[in-house]
Amino acid sequence: MSKGKKVKINKVKESPSTLTLFPEVEAGKVPDVTQEDEKPPLETTTLWDYPRQSYGKTPKGNNKFQGVTPAFLIWNLIQRYTEPGDLVVDPMAGSGTTVDVCKEEGREVKGFDIAPQHPEVIQNDARNIPLPDESVDLVFIDSPYGDNVSYSDSPDCIGRISCEDEGFYLELEKVAREVYRILKPGKVMGWLIGDQWVKKNFTPVGFKLYERLTKYFETVDLICVARRGQSSHTGVWHYRAKKFNFYLRGFKYLFIMRKPAPVTGKKTKPKVKWAKYK
Ligand SMILES: C[S@@+](CC[C@H](N)C(=O)[O-])C[C@H]1O[C@@H](n2cnc3c(N)ncnc32)[C@H](O)[C@@H]1O
Repeated sequence: MSKGKKVKINKVKESPSTLTLFPEVEAGKVPDVTQEDEKPPLETTTLWDYPRQSYGKTPKGNNKFQGVTPAFLIWNLIQRYTEPGDLVVDPMAGSGTTVDVCKEEGREVKGFDIAPQHPEVIQNDARNIPLPDESVDLVFIDSPYGDNVSYSDSPDCIGRISCEDEGFYLELEKVAREVYRILKPGKVMGWLIGDQWVKKNFTPVGFKLYERLTKYFETVDLICVARRGQSSHTGVWHYRAKKFNFYLRGFKYLFIMRKPAPVTGKKTKPKVKWAKYK
């Protein structure tokens, strides 16, 4: 198809929630919008729910890659916390969703992974990122949640360690320290992670990681991202969840955290006279 040729978006067929994401399309009010122009909605609440992995005409990442990140999510982070030309880094970039989203939005981007699945993602261990201190404007990371997915045969894949093992959090903390080192002060990182329920044993992976992240970063906000397209979201698993009285994982956490900026030394007037309450 020649560049610039307008293509009408068909009424979205997938699910009712797809329609609510694009109400103007549903209402038929934007007949001349091109697929190239399609952009995600800018999120305004702490509940993000995406019926598809990607948007627009060109793919972002590989939606066949197990564990691929919703492109909508990365788009939202870079709209809020970066400017065009800023450098975004993904130390566990897998199939390159961050790379593809950032390039389309005019951000500089570097993606690394222990087992790259995208031509522009560079092979590297996230515990040692080859970038100078305080050189990055935003980090996004969608790490393994434990050993539930086999990403590669690499012995350095953190996704080979069970999240029931404290060693898993020790390794993720090494990644967190690198993220802290490369981020400019005052800049933001987003870390996506989910909990585990396996063989009647719940592991609060998100809380355990969050506790470690708070050693380095201050919290901007905590987002709940609906888990869709999961291999366990089938009739048989829903049946088992009811019959054996457990829950399927329905969401992931997106921790939005900031590397603290240095204190300027400017004294601010205390708003409350604490002496009053002594
Ligand atoms: C959930 S996937 C990331 C998906 C990616 N955001 C995408 O959209 O394709 C987690 C990734 O972490 C990578 N990984 C695991 N251990 C790593 C390590 N030590 N250093 C760098 N990457 C690692 C895996 O190879 C896998 O690609």
